[in-house]
Amino acid sequence: MNKLENPWRILIQSAASSPSPHNAQPWKVRIIDESHAELFIDGKRALPDEDETGCFMICAMGIFCEALEGIAATHGLRLSAKYFDPSFDNELNLFAKLELSEADDAITPFPRELYSKRKTSRLPNLKKLVQDEVLARLKSIENPSGQRLSVISDPQLIHWMMDLNLETTFIDMNKAPYRREFHNWVRTNPRKAAELRDGLDARCMNLKPIEFWMNANFYWMYQIPVISTLIKYWYNFRIGHIQHFGIISGSFWDNDSAVAAGRYLLRLWLEMAREDVYVHPFGNLVTNLETRSTLEKKLGIENIWLVFRMGYTQEPPGSYRLDVSEIIID
Ligand SMILES: Cc1cc2nc3c(=O)[nH]c(=O)nc-3n(C[C@H](O)[C@H](O)[C@H](O)COP(=O)(O)O)c2cc1C
Repeated sequence: MNKLENPWRILIQSAASSPSPHNAQPWKVRIIDESHAELFIDGKRALPDEDETGCFMICAMGIFCEALEGIAATHGLRLSAKYFDPSFDNELNLFAKLELSEADDAITPFPRELYSKRKTSRLPNLKKLVQDEVLARLKSIENPSGQRLSVISDPQLIHWMMDLNLETTFIDMNKAPYRREFHNWVRTNPRKAAELRDGLDARCMNLKPIEFWMNANFYWMYQIPVISTLIKYWYNFRIGHIQHFGIISGSFWDNDSAVAAGRYLLRLWLEMAREDVYVHPFGNLVTNLETRSTLEKKLGIENIWLVFRMGYTQEPPGSYRLDVSEIIID
């Protein structure tokens, strides 16, 4: 059937560049034969204390499926997935059964190179606005699950959102379970980061290892008013001027919706990569329930599930990925 030798390995190799919260890479694949494979959630890579509903991990799995499908299409193959109700209770939790077939009419909306070009950028934005016609193209991408992209460009609102994000991060970091989970993914030692090939590498956080280590360990200082004000100034100075925030709203908080939302998110992110627009998600604005509700009221947008800084930056460093041999299981 296949034009490719070892098709799953080739697809997984490219799809491994997919984004996931904390770069946790929760996906594992068992190859059954040339045409069939099973996709699992790796329970050890879930984030139960930040992602309490599990929807962000399911969203990441949806992203990975979308990548497998899109990359398969670039090889003239069709990938279909039958999804199962996922759980996080076991080491490996069946997420989908995958089937590959030939597709003469495969639609390839995104060239293969875009999957590796797409990256999170935490570098400061260049002094350049995203033009209306680019925003219009981003808003018009294929979106059967009815997600909505809103763009905030009002400087006062942006300032307010930055403050809300930092205040929420300070609160969240002072919650022990949240912090312990975050610490598992902090990579401040360059050698360890290269060895583990997952998690949040200081290089990609645009922080020196010592700065990242201090951020993660001196969380209690965030509660001291003068110091927290200084940290806010320092953080805002590091990030620089923000021209736009992107907001995605729509159905998200059930399994099927989270899969569809993840698939939409990857398409949007690839389209941004095509336009050279970089994304930097601000997770605390949506995972903290009180903050999410404050944000929704202020912006007059319901069902927000992702907020990200968007704009042009220098090319950011690439984050590590697990080797294909660590993704494929027996
Ligand atoms: C659903 C989702 C939420 C994310 N939330 C955050 C976040 O809150 N802060 C952040 O800096 N990066 C966030 N990221 C970006 C990931 O950390 C990033 O994708 C991962 O480290 C891999 O890096 P890459 O995107 O450059 O390949 C998020 C990614 C996804 C898919």
